Amino acid sequence: MWCLSHFWRYLGFFLAMLLVLKSLEVQAMVSYKPNIVIFLADDLGIGDVGCYGNNTIRTPNIDRLAEEGVKLTQHIAASPLCTPSRAAFLTGRYPIRSGMDATDRYRVFHWLAGSGGLPPNETTFAKILQNQGYSTGLVGKWHQGVNCEYRNDYCHYPLNHGFDYFYGMPFTLMGDCHQLPEMDLPLRIKLSSYTQMIVLAVFTLIAAKLTHLVQVSWKLIFLLALFGFIFFISWFSSLGFIRLWDCIMMRNYEITEQPMMVERAAPLMLREAISFIERNKQGPFLLFFSFLHVHTPLVTMENFTGKSKHGLYGDNVEEMDWMIGRILNVLDDYNLKESTLTYFTSDHGGHLEAQEGNAQRGGWNGIYKGGKAMAGWEGGIRVPGLFRWTGVLPERKVIAEPTSLMDIYPTLIHLAGGTVPQDRVIDGKDLMPLLLGLVEHSEHKFMFHYCGVNIHAVRWHQKETGSTWKAHYVTPVFQPEGSGGCYKTRFCPCFGKGVTRHNPPLLFDLSRDPSEAVPLSPDTEPLFHMVLERIEKAVEEHQKTLTPVPQQLSVFNIMWKPWLQPCCGTFPFCQCDKEKDNIENEK
Ligand SMILES: *[C@@H]1O[C@H](CO)[C@@H](O)[C@H](O)[C@H]1NC(C)=O
Ligand SMILES: *[C@@H]1O[C@H](CO)[C@@H](O)[C@H](O)[C@H]1NC(C)=O
Repeated sequence: MWCLSHFWRYLGFFLAMLLVLKSLEVQAMVSYKPNIVIFLADDLGIGDVGCYGNNTIRTPNIDRLAEEGVKLTQHIAASPLCTPSRAAFLTGRYPIRSGMDATDRYRVFHWLAGSGGLPPNETTFAKILQNQGYSTGLVGKWHQGVNCEYRNDYCHYPLNHGFDYFYGMPFTLMGDCHQLPEMDLPLRIKLSSYTQMIVLAVFTLIAAKLTHLVQVSWKLIFLLALFGFIFFISWFSSLGFIRLWDCIMMRNYEITEQPMMVERAAPLMLREAISFIERNKQGPFLLFFSFLHVHTPLVTMENFTGKSKHGLYGDNVEEMDWMIGRILNVLDDYNLKESTLTYFTSDHGGHLEAQEGNAQRGGWNGIYKGGKAMAGWEGGIRVPGLFRWTGVLPERKVIAEPTSLMDIYPTLIHLAGGTVPQDRVIDGKDLMPLLLGLVEHSEHKFMFHYCGVNIHAVRWHQKETGSTWKAHYVTPVFQPEGSGGCYKTRFCPCFGKGVTRHNPPLLFDLSRDPSEAVPLSPDTEPLFHMVLERIEKAVEEHQKTLTPVPQQLSVFNIMWKPWLQPCCGTFPFCQCDKEKDNIENEK
């Protein structure tokens, strides 16, 4: 008995030592806090990039990252849309855990002056890096909310989420930012019918109140009337208002342009990023460059317009690549290449339905089915993932293991010498052992592909056999049929009449059928039932780890609230252009 218990104790000790050695190995290879540069593209498809197989588009600078570093070929976004995918990226958690995924039809924030946003009690990687002594800067798009209760509380703002410095768009680029377009007819009709409904409701309420039928406060009626007025105005002014309310640029707490001049955004962002690196070159710094590219309206500088083989979309991709090149050159100039981990990715797949006539205005997802807004199909969630850290990471290495954008969270925190929060579930896994080649497999066994708060598909990487199973519980109904997208509505929905439920689920093995072309059946796949049972069990276990949280995308939180509107000048006459003065001073 005595011997046996000793044996176990020694074995335990031995195993513990092995683990310590493994982590020492990682630490020995990465013994200091590297600078971090993150490039996050907006709506870029995996098929749009040279090093992922595109031979007609020119992305030499992105490709350079793959040549000088590690290329992930199964890099998965936690959601197929901006707001939830970025929330997951920043927090290392499925967006359902922070209340940042849709319970209803609203799947991203629609107004800068809504009250939803990344909750103040979520801890971003930027916040932990900031605590670890990093200078942290965000340049570009945010789309994670601004205020909660009053105009300048900035509860959801980048500066409240770990960034020392912010320059960019607190909202997101969209068609309305570019000019005053002719409003498209369905929207115009919607707005006018909302206006009419509200006017009717206001009159009914006033009548009911005066005749003491119901007790409602004048405040409520006034508020409702205000909303009616707002709808009317936006209808009346053919969307010019949206540009004024949503399309603004800010530097820290100051609004620099309202509305913004979209043409200026790219050169200004580039200038800001470069000067951030110059100011902080002694390190360690985190620069998160969150592109407005390649989201519509694809505003592109003159020297790139008409230059690619793929129209305006291709021009915009090539311009983005050039911007990346400029920043990589600055890292070279300051000899920062070996002390900087550089990462490139996209927030989700390309937007198939973005078209103008027959011209392509959205990304291309290569061999993968589906795109933006589709949570289950690979094209919506499989994105480029490149890591370069010269002298530390291997070069020209390709890793096909399943990895997630959420993995950046623990990876960066460990590199910075910090610890991930212990009081919550973190879904990301540290990527360093995999990138360094110390382990063969990623730690991800199951991944849950959410559309809003519903699981549409589940991936199971069965390490022993090398299979990557994917079961689809729900898929969108393509319209027109067989078109591979939802061209009538522009975005595929998560629930309702626009989806099909599958029982049994549609099953694929991505390792044999990456395009998800032919579903397996019990006849063609002997493991069919076993695989589905195992996945079902994983879903149950996963769901046990969820707790209810306030819904950031609720109808109330989505609504435009005049008292939350960032505004330079006197509300509602918000307008300024501080960049103009800067640009003129430079001349
Ligand atoms: C390259 O990207 C363009 C732009 O998205 C796309 O139209 C084209 O089909 C892609 N080519 C290949 C070979 O993937
Ligand atoms: C943040 O606060 C909300 C509401 O009080 C709570 O439900 C949630 O669990 C908190 N999140 C974390 C990570 O503490």
